[in-house]
Amino acid sequence: MTLLKYHNLQLIIHNTTMFHLILLLLLHSATITTATTTTTISQQFKEAPQFYNSPECPLTTTTTTKNNNNTVHVAMTLDAAYIRGSMAAILSVLQHSSCPENIIFHFVTSSSSNTSLLRATIATSFPYLNFHVYRFMDSIVSGLISTSIRAALDCPLNYARSYLANILPAHVNKVVYLDSDLVLVDDIAKLAATPLGDSILAAPEYCNADFAIYFTPTFWSSPSLSSTFADRKPCYFNTGVMVMDLGRWRAGEYTTKIEEWMELQKRMRIYELGSLPPFLLVFAGKIAPVDHRWNQHGLGGDNYRGLCRDLHPGPVSLLHWSGKSKPWVRLDAERPCPLDALWAPYDLLMPPFSFDS
Ligand SMILES: *[C@@H]1O[C@H](CO)[C@@H](O)[C@H](O)[C@H]1NC(C)=O
Ligand SMILES: *[C@@H]1O[C@H](CO)[C@@H](O)[C@H](O)[C@H]1NC(C)=O
Repeated sequence: MTLLKYHNLQLIIHNTTMFHLILLLLLHSATITTATTTTTISQQFKEAPQFYNSPECPLTTTTTTKNNNNTVHVAMTLDAAYIRGSMAAILSVLQHSSCPENIIFHFVTSSSSNTSLLRATIATSFPYLNFHVYRFMDSIVSGLISTSIRAALDCPLNYARSYLANILPAHVNKVVYLDSDLVLVDDIAKLAATPLGDSILAAPEYCNADFAIYFTPTFWSSPSLSSTFADRKPCYFNTGVMVMDLGRWRAGEYTTKIEEWMELQKRMRIYELGSLPPFLLVFAGKIAPVDHRWNQHGLGGDNYRGLCRDLHPGPVSLLHWSGKSKPWVRLDAERPCPLDALWAPYDLLMPPFSFDS
């Protein structure tokens, strides 16, 4: 069974590769214009189909959607560089939802990006989507960010997840935060229903990962700093897939707690990697677990050599291309990993050259 599936994947890849090769030979020069910058979107996206609730879905009218428990609120960031990934993620959420009309998307954009262009791009591909766009003031965090080893992780928008409780309207109490380099293959309502217990958030935890490496020797050698974890059993967790109770977050002022660690980091280097360590400092050992089926992670490949990764054992509800490369980059480069074929069906990008226009 596994072998057969694998064989089919390779077949699909082989066919698309041939197709692209032929197109490339035909129109070689047209491919040069597809690069993106942070302010322009040179790509064109297709319109996604409309998705309807199944008859079993609880009724939500526009007046009750706000405070209805059956509404699933989803938060994502949106920028020109990752928009192709975001579009695929949105499509995958809708396509696998039993009640897609009960989903409200909350998109956070950087104040340095062209917000109206991003909004228009989403609205054009998803004319029926219930969504809001919020501008995140880069200046809020730019003074708090210290340079990390991967420049991409220093982008202010990466920190927006720490500010969702302030950015989203007060009536939004629970939100599912999703990265842009993933697709769901299961109903997001199940993820949103993850039991939180007394926790502020739920995320996929990895207790076998070496937790110590996320902090510097300076941190661990200081008794006052390392005692932060004294009364808990901290585990690494992934902040790319989270279920957050924003009501509890606001009440506990967790954004301030995260900022305090970032302030300290400016004065003495206590960690290396971007926005993750402050989250770990505040929440590790205190979160509710998200089933690992909701984070089949690492598909972006090895951070050093870019090797392809396979799925982890167990069921799959969400595929996450975390890591160095992204499926759309490898597909464009004609060097996809086998599992990139699972992302491709959600790609809304129009071929850069179309004969029928
Ligand atoms: C929504 O859920 C909360 C807590 O889970 C509950 O107290 C409340 O009654 C529910 N509201 C509706 C309209 O079902
Ligand atoms: C945003 O994009 C639109 C459409 O491309 C363009 O007309 C507008 O001038 C841009 N705005 C800024 C501030 O760059």
